[in-house]
Amino acid sequence: MNQDGTRHHERLLSFTTMANFARGYSPLYAAIMQHMIAWIQDDQVIDEAHNAGLTGRLASLRSRVMAFLDRPEWTNDLDPVLRLAAVLHRMVIDGDERVEGLRNFYRTVGGKRSPSEPGFALTLVRAFARVGDELLERAGSWVIQSNETARGLIWLLPAAVLQIEAAYLLELGASAGLNLYAEHRSYTLEPADGSPVSLGRAGAKQFVIPCTGAVPELVPAATAGPEILLRRGADASPVDLDNPETERILAACIWGDQPHRLQRLREGFALHRELLKTAGPAAKVERRVFPEDTQTFLAEALPAAPRAPVILFDTYFTAYLNDVDLRALERDVREFAHTWTLRHGLPWLWARFEPARAGESSPHTGWCRWFVDTWSRGRHRRIELGWAHPHLVRAEFGPGLAELESLRGPE
Ligand SMILES: C[S@@+](CC[C@H](N)C(=O)[O-])C[C@H]1O[C@@H](n2cnc3c(N)ncnc32)[C@H](O)[C@@H]1O
Repeated sequence: MNQDGTRHHERLLSFTTMANFARGYSPLYAAIMQHMIAWIQDDQVIDEAHNAGLTGRLASLRSRVMAFLDRPEWTNDLDPVLRLAAVLHRMVIDGDERVEGLRNFYRTVGGKRSPSEPGFALTLVRAFARVGDELLERAGSWVIQSNETARGLIWLLPAAVLQIEAAYLLELGASAGLNLYAEHRSYTLEPADGSPVSLGRAGAKQFVIPCTGAVPELVPAATAGPEILLRRGADASPVDLDNPETERILAACIWGDQPHRLQRLREGFALHRELLKTAGPAAKVERRVFPEDTQTFLAEALPAAPRAPVILFDTYFTAYLNDVDLRALERDVREFAHTWTLRHGLPWLWARFEPARAGESSPHTGWCRWFVDTWSRGRHRRIELGWAHPHLVRAEFGPGLAELESLRGPE
């Protein structure tokens, strides 16, 4: 196979990997991938499309789709696939008449039909025949952005276990920074053996997370989370929370049969708008590139005379750093936190939720390791809390939560 053929083959394999990953979690995207694979691999299009007179149009589009998938600029094999899916979702959300039939299959816009119904393949290729060229053009300049609001729990839970009463909250790789509001959301952990544990200040239930392993009992005052004195995020491509277009872009990047995730995202934006009107600190995300800007970001974000601990966190961010840059980031945070805690006599918590690195194993494909680093008067501890699905729909805790609990107490 020549180089182009190999790359093309690899891209088709990623479609298949994506379809397999999505199967139990997003039947709509699994079905879209499968139909795309069938169409691209086969010069023929499905019989129904032939009968609908779409064959010629689809055959000419096919070569342009293959050229799109083979472009050298993609950061990984899934990049072009996710861009196409996001732009198509955006068209559906915007009510584009050319993809009208698809609305019935997208639960994010109220669709009720299943993609396993026989009519789906034809609806998809018909939409594709109509918007294919525009879809490819828009996907070329689309930037995949996500801000998974379930992940706010990753700092809120350790903060509650440690009974932190007030804190400066900082986030690395924050995207839009919606997880800087986690104490205003609602998270319920449902252990397989034991009573549910709820955290956060929102009245109605939002994120419900079945889990295994022991979850410590939390005192009621701690479940509300700390008083946050400052909310500051940093990202190489910050997403502007105050631009109305941002919500639509992030919405389009959510998979089209996951209305609950869309709802949670919209609640996050509503919360930001509400908190902007009150005196409490609103989230701000600035442009910073890590590891280069680590110490500058920390030094400039924090007050000169702090009166509370720091909670720093990152979720699905260091996956974007190579090993050398990750080590540099960790070294810079470690040095800064060590000196800061000694100078100010206040503790520092770094909560992290990151996928396994190459060569590391995870209990389930794609799951993220949940761990914390703590510093108190210069003393450093690293504690592994467990693993969770990347969208935090399930978690498996180890003994780390109990170990973290044992750190609680007077300084
Ligand atoms: C998958 S998103 C996760 C966003 C958010 N933390 C969440 O969990 O929803 C990864 C984020 O890391 C940012 N990022 C990647 N490399 C970066 C770097 N070197 N410096 C700063 N931000 C970076 C990206 O721009 C993106 O917003």
